[in-house]
Amino acid sequence: MRARLGATTIPSPVLTASGCAAAGRELDPFLDLTALGAVVTKSVQLRARSGRPTPRMAETPSGMLNSIGLQGPGIDAFLAKDLPWLAARGARAMVSIAGGAVEEYAELASRLRGAAGLVAVEVNISCPNVESRGEVFACDPAAASAVLAAVRAADPGVPVYAKLSPDVTDIVSVARACVDSGADGISAINTLLGLVIDTDTLRPVLAAETGGLSGPAIRPVALRCVWQIHRALPNTPILGMGGITNGADALQFILAGASAVSVGTAVFGDPNAPERIGRELAGALAGKGFSRCSDAIGYAHRAPGRTGVHRVDA
Ligand SMILES: Cc1cc2nc3c(=O)[nH]c(=O)nc-3n(C[C@H](O)[C@H](O)[C@H](O)COP(=O)(O)O)c2cc1C
Repeated sequence: MRARLGATTIPSPVLTASGCAAAGRELDPFLDLTALGAVVTKSVQLRARSGRPTPRMAETPSGMLNSIGLQGPGIDAFLAKDLPWLAARGARAMVSIAGGAVEEYAELASRLRGAAGLVAVEVNISCPNVESRGEVFACDPAAASAVLAAVRAADPGVPVYAKLSPDVTDIVSVARACVDSGADGISAINTLLGLVIDTDTLRPVLAAETGGLSGPAIRPVALRCVWQIHRALPNTPILGMGGITNGADALQFILAGASAVSVGTAVFGDPNAPERIGRELAGALAGKGFSRCSDAIGYAHRAPGRTGVHRVDA
């Protein structure tokens, strides 16, 4: 069940998803954080932010809409308290960073260099670019590329993953731009922009009006994105996510081309979900005759006729 995040080897292909496990403390009573591939921390910014007004969450059929607005302590407090806490527990951290300008991402990346417990950086580019009329970085290959190039140049000293938005016409062009600019891997996907209206108040449920849709409702979209990226960039490691609730869901992502998966919304209903899904994935892989998780990466892309039950001795 070992997996790789770029050049780094992790003991499990199952990680948490950014924003759904804070910096690990809340999940600690429910699972062994060291058994996870890594804890992917909530996107951190240069300064502390209180986030958007409430309500910030709404339940939807098979999913959830959120507009948290990147609430967080800022990089100073994060480096002083959150990351050392994870390192002291022996947990690995994939730190998600977010900014409103290219230079902010670069500064965050350089601040992380050498931090204890850091195994990778996930660059959340689903943020509005304040220098470009609020256009989301991840929706423009050139803007996405500028962020990844700046993070690479700042050199956090660990593998860098670009986290993509599904709200684009051609996700492959954005993935390619990020990889060409130095991303070691791709995280896919972030939430889809959605809206829920309360028919009593006749107003949007969320104070911010629109929000990000996550959970099982988005799984086929997420899988399609992973599939397309793997097909176009077969040598690029992908951290797949979107609606994973059990080992069979996780296996679908691996078969589509992910080399590891993140579990997000599922932890709100089952805080043990990442550890459970790791066990279930191991069982599902063994049940199909895979002796290593890495052997199953992208397996569903094999030509028809070679898609029967896999036997390693076949
Ligand atoms: C409450 C909430 C907060 C989130 N915050 C972040 C965040 O700070 N940074 C980020 O890159 N993604 C964030 N996400 C997106 C998740 O990391 C993930 O990409 C997405 O929810 C799809 O996975 P899931 O269906 O397993 O939740 C957030 C998702 C939720 C539900």
